[in-house]
Parts: sequence; structure tokens; C-alpha cells
Amino acid sequence: MAATPGMNPTPADEAREAVVEAALGKLDLDAKARLLSGQDMWTLPELPEIGLKSLVMSDGPIGVRGVRWTADDPSVALPSPTALAATWDPELARRAGVLLAQEARRKGVHVLLAPTVNLHRSPLGGRHFEAYSEDPYLTGEIGSGYVNGVQSGGVGTTVKHFVANDAETDRFTVNNLVSERALRELYLAPFETIVANAHPWGIMTAYNTVNGTTMTEHHYLVNEVLRGEWGFDGFNVSDWMAARSTTGAIEGGLDVAMPGPVTVYGEALAAAVRTGEIKETKVDEAVRRVLRLAARVGILEGADPVVTEPPATVDGDALAREIARRAFVLVRNEVRNGQPALPLRPGAKIALIGSAARDARVLGGGSATVFPPRIVSPLDGLTAAFPEGTLTYAVGADPNTELAVADKGFALRAICRDADGHVIGADPAPNGTVQWFDTALPEGVTPEALHTVELTGTFTPRESGPHTFGIKGLGAFKLTIDGTTYFDAVQTTDKDDPFVSFFGAPVPRAEADLTAGTPVEVSLSYVVALPDNLPVKVVAFSLCHQEPQRDPDDLIAEAVEAARAADTAVVVVATTERVESEGFDRKDLHLPGRQDDLVRAVAAANPDTVVVVNSGSPVELPWRDDVAAVLLTWFPGQEGGAALADVLTGTHEPGGRLPTTWCALPDAPVTQVVPTAGELAYDEDVFIGYRAWEKNGATPSYPFGHGLGYTDWTYESIEVTDGTTATVRVRNTGDRAGRETIQLYLAPTTPDANRPPRWLAGFATVEAAPGETTEAVIRLPRRAFEIWDETANSWVYVEGSYEVEAGRSVADRRLTATIAPDYARTPNP
Ligand code: BGC
Repeated sequence: MAATPGMNPTPADEAREAVVEAALGKLDLDAKARLLSGQDMWTLPELPEIGLKSLVMSDGPIGVRGVRWTADDPSVALPSPTALAATWDPELARRAGVLLAQEARRKGVHVLLAPTVNLHRSPLGGRHFEAYSEDPYLTGEIGSGYVNGVQSGGVGTTVKHFVANDAETDRFTVNNLVSERALRELYLAPFETIVANAHPWGIMTAYNTVNGTTMTEHHYLVNEVLRGEWGFDGFNVSDWMAARSTTGAIEGGLDVAMPGPVTVYGEALAAAVRTGEIKETKVDEAVRRVLRLAARVGILEGADPVVTEPPATVDGDALAREIARRAFVLVRNEVRNGQPALPLRPGAKIALIGSAARDARVLGGGSATVFPPRIVSPLDGLTAAFPEGTLTYAVGADPNTELAVADKGFALRAICRDADGHVIGADPAPNGTVQWFDTALPEGVTPEALHTVELTGTFTPRESGPHTFGIKGLGAFKLTIDGTTYFDAVQTTDKDDPFVSFFGAPVPRAEADLTAGTPVEVSLSYVVALPDNLPVKVVAFSLCHQEPQRDPDDLIAEAVEAARAADTAVVVVATTERVESEGFDRKDLHLPGRQDDLVRAVAAANPDTVVVVNSGSPVELPWRDDVAAVLLTWFPGQEGGAALADVLTGTHEPGGRLPTTWCALPDAPVTQVVPTAGELAYDEDVFIGYRAWEKNGATPSYPFGHGLGYTDWTYESIEVTDGTTATVRVRNTGDRAGRETIQLYLAPTTPDANRPPRWLAGFATVEAAPGETTEAVIRLPRRAFEIWDETANSWVYVEGSYEVEAGRSVADRRLTATIAPDYARTPNP
């Protein structure tokens, strides 16, 4: 890992800087201005005159989609960021990063648009699943591991979205009003930690405004805090279409405006320099940072990349499975007659229930979406793990109240035609989504020649009855099923989000009576049009489908029968893409459809009911005390079903601890995500998540840090030496080997209404065999004792005595030591 030039440059950094300076000196103003502007959706232009190749960026947090964003160009899909944070293991996050670098290299990507380190301010935040935690310390530690991992593979990161992009409503325009103290102690803190611990090569500035200034023009937060105070030396890219003004952006420290080709930089920037509005040195500063990035990733001639030998190859499927089971949080595991509900007894007859058990939701929606090469559903995973004849399956309830992208049973191709109807190219279409940017069209197809795309092939239903078909996208479509044309018109929208073609709702357009097992011809044609509110030519639409809707009461009755006939019922409940995705916030935390009714009915029929919750962020579980076990599996990634089998059979422990409080919406400390007159006031200040729960003395459904394994632990002793280094000794008192996450909370001995009663100050995972003791040594950083003083405009160490509490969650603290550290004597970074 390279040290940050300027802070602690190595000879290799200095050599790269020299190449950067020489290259910068050779560029004229027009070339420099061009380099700062996207040339298309994902890339910057090449500049052959200095030996610079085109820089390629790609989303995102759980997989690398590459410049082509279609199912025929698959990518390993890891569990959601909430899941990664639930492992409480920065080393595992680092390994995830190494895999993502490998994926990026395979796809020719130089910079990964990740990680997302905004905070879980409110459970309603639409991209909650894509961020790590409600706690800035945990977020910073997981994010540091991730960035270190990606960059150790020679691939850059853009830590995003800087800053306070904690909800989605009106995200392009909202003015978030946040106190300096809340910014410093909460929202900026993960960025600061990651800059210090992992030296990211990039940052992405957010769509939103903070305290009156849009983030792509925020001189104070970008130039003064991020670069000035923290010494960040990487490049700053706008979120997609976030840059608004040439002068504002360049003065505010924005280096690259994406996507292109039409941006506020390029010709507009060169012109502003020529009129004297902008100094050329400002442009040079930005270009220098882009060239430094290019040198680091190895696309600037003459500069040695930071990483010359990529790390050893990682098995992506195996890592996805390991992270998933290490992330699953067992929040309830009732013991009856001395026997816990989980792991399942060998030989038990299992009734697996739930639509998501068969059609698993393995990842969240929006720009974080990738197309995995395979998906192991719970039904696949359990079928492989349990002896034949011991597993039955019933749908129970279908949460998909809307159409979903055509998938199971469809065999499709996308055929491109010119204006005369001649075929000019084609691509396989593993599902119903076509998403092409002008630079990534099927072979032989040019944006100029492309007139129509037809998604065509067969559909073989798995159920008889009325099937609904629909369209996601904007423009002129023609939908034909089994020889009948149902729709031939223009589909429009009243939403002004430029990404509505990607993330908008599907519209039902046809209902056809079909017979299970009998294939029919399907065709959806789209006349390609350049959306006038996107700067880039893009083809984006989906054929959507919904199975015949059965009577919900019948479905529940069938599931109840199956549960009665089994020893254990395993019910998988889930959210849908229409509930958790990018571009909108959640309205409530309910499980969609009749899933709550289903769980209640099954639990009434079989007390041995285990509920598996497949959602990226908290949902309400009103029946949680009436079932034998509750296992939270997040969006578990492509190997989720295999990991579920590992945990249910007990070959592995569920290793997760909650990175965020789970509660019912009315009890959540922050529910305000909708701006009033364009403004969203963070009135709760520093009291989000467990900080608020602790202050209010209230008990949520499941507290921050909670999670059970398959063995028991006794916390034996805590000792704090040097005032700041805690040694915690624990014993595995169960009968199997296990892993424990030891959490340290810091609580001022004299309560202070301005501070939370306690906060996370350190953690470590340890492993021990049955009967064995083990120790964790955890250093408490100085920052854990500091607050941001708004009058002094600086961090202030708060003297006095503190309790260091070691425990299994914020609510289950087992050991306490009282300390009064003196940082004047024992400095600790
Ligand atoms: C998202 C970013 C993403 C970008 C590029 C934006 O809409 O907010 O997180 O990296 O698109 O896909």
C-alpha cells in the first residue's frame, strides 16, 4: 500500500509524482478540460499524447458489473453491505475487497464506485442495505478493510457519497441541515477513518446539498476538511449527473464530472478559463489528481502502478458463501426441553415455505445491482444439504405484488435492427432486462445505426392460468405474446428522475392464459430514443412478468398443511425490489403481501417454526416472540442458499451481530426522511440508532450488536492498561468450537445529557474450542474520548472517568472497568 504523497511519500510515490508532473506539463488547456469530463457513462478519454489510457469506472459495493450491465456479462455477487458489516470483521471486508479487485481487473475496470459509507440515520432510507451501519466507528473499520482490500489489488475506490446522503427522497435537490458536531462525530467520521487507515484513491461527492451548498461544490467540506485537514490526495468524482455548474464545481474541488459526454467540464471549463472566470491552476490541480490516479492504477505510460503483482486468485463462490454465513444474525433461538431450535436436528422432516425460498432475493436494487453467474436459492441449498425425501416446499405467500423482470422459464435474445428493419447485431439475454450504453452495444452495432431492439424468444410457464406481462422503460414499445399484440404505443412517466428507465416501476400491459409446460413465443420491441434528460445514449428497458395470482388464503392453507406434516417449518420472508432499492425511501417497515399472516398461521400449526428474514435492512417482525427461531440473512449474495444450509444444518455457526438496531417504525428514533420545502433538518443531532435508544432508556426489538452463535460464552475478566488498552478474557462454555464478537462500549461515569450514555469504542472477534479461554486486546482510540466542540471548532478531549464495558451487544454488557485516561501522558492515535 502506498503512503499518501504529501503525508508520507515513498520513493515509488515520488517517482509516480514526477511522471504525473511531466505529463501535466505536456497537456494543453483543451486536453486538460476534456480529461475532467466523462466521455460516456463510465470512462474518461484517453490522451495518447501523454500515453494515458482511458480510465474505466464501475459500480459497485457487492460486485463489479463492468461497462456492460447485462446478464450475459455476469459478476460474482457478494452479500449486501449490511451483511458485510454484520460480520464485524474488517479482515473479511478486506478479503471481499481483494475479490472485487480481481473481478474489476477481469472486466477491465480501474476504479470501483464503492464503498457506500453513509449512515443508517433512519431505517426508512432506501439505500440502507447498501450502507454498513448506524455506527460511524463500525462503518469506518469495515470500510477501511474493504478499501485496503480493493486497492491491494491495484484497483481504485471512490468512498461515497460524500456526505450526508442518508436518504433518497429528492436526493438531487434536498438541503440537509446538519450541525457541524453531527457531521464530525457521525457522518464525516467514516470518511475520515478510511482516509487515515486506507488512503483511498478516490471519493464520490453526493447529489444532495449540505447546509446550503451542493456537495459537488462544497469548498469547505472538500477542500478544507477532506483535503486540508485530513490530507486526502485522491480524486473527487461527482455522483452521476450531480455536477451543476462549471465554476462552482471546480472551485468546490470537484475533479471529474460524470457521466459524459455532456458535462459542466470539457469545453465549458476551457471556455471559463479563457474568459478569465477560472484560473488554469485550478484545472491543473484537478488534472494532477486524475493523472495521479491513472498512475496508481497503471494506465499512465512511464509510471509504475502501486500494485505490480496482483494478489493470489480468490475463489469468489467460496468467499461469497463464507461471508454470507458469517453475516447471518441469529436474533432468537428458543430452547425447548433443553434443545435449541437451531441447528436443526439431523433427520428432521423440513417444510420449507416462502416465495423467496424458491426465487431468492440475493441483492438490492439500483446501481448496486449486478448479474451473478448463478444464484443458490434456499430451496437449492437445502435440497442439496438434506437427505432425499426430508424436504417439502410450499409458496405460502407471494410478496411480489408487482411484476418482476422476466426470468424463470424465459429463453430470450435481444436483436438489433436499423431503420430499414435489417438485423445489425444481437446479444443473448439471460433475463428480461436490456441495459446498454452507447459504448457497449452488441458487436457490430453503432448508436447511429441502431433503431429498434427486439427482445424475443419463448416462455415456458411453470404454472397454468392468467400470466401478466409488463414493460419497464420509457418510449415506444410493442408487446406480443403467443401471436397476440397487447400493447403498441408510447410509455411515458410523470417522474423527473433521469434513472427512471432503470429503477422505475413496471407497468402491466398484457394478460395471457397459458398452460404449464407449454412454451409460447414472446416479443417486446423498443424504438431506441435518446432520453432528453440523460447526457448519454442508453438503451434501457425490461420485459416484466407475474405468475398467475393464486388465492392468498389457499396458499397459506397449503403452507400450514405442509408445516403440520413436518418436524420443523422453515419460513423465508422477504422484501422486494419495489420495497428496497435506489431512488426512493421506504414508506413503512412491513413485510410486503401476506407474509406476516403466513408466519402466524404456520407458527400456530407447528411450534417448531424457524423464520429466515431475507431483507437488506430492518423490517418489522410482529410475530417474533411466537416462533422458535429468527435468522436474519440480509441480501445474502449469490451463494445465500448454500450458506443457509450450512447454518441450518449446523456445519457452521451463524456469525453475525447487528450493525444496526432493529425496531418497529413507530419506535424508530428518526423517521423523517422527507424534506419540507426542500430542507431536511437532522434535528436529532448526534442521537441516531442506539445512541438514541440508550438516551431514551428504551428497548428495541433487537439491539445494536446482538446476535447468537451455537455455543455459549462467559466473560471472565477485563483489564485496562495504560489507561487505553483493554484486555478482555472470555471462555467458550458450550460444547462446540465458536467465534465471539467482543464489543467495547465507552460510558462517561457522570452522565452528560449532550452525549449518548455509551458508544462503541472498539471490538474484536476471537475463536475458542469448547472449554477454552481466549483474550482480545483492544485499543481505545483517542477519538473515542473526544467530542466536536462547535465553539472552539475543533475536537476536544473530554476529561474525567469512563466505564469501559465489554459485552455481547449494547444492551448485554458483561464486564466493566473504570478508567480515567490521560492523553497528555499516553498519546494514542
Ligand atoms: C448512484 C451512485 C452510483 C452512480 C453510478 C448513482 O445514481 O447514486 O452510487 O455509483 O449512480 O451508477
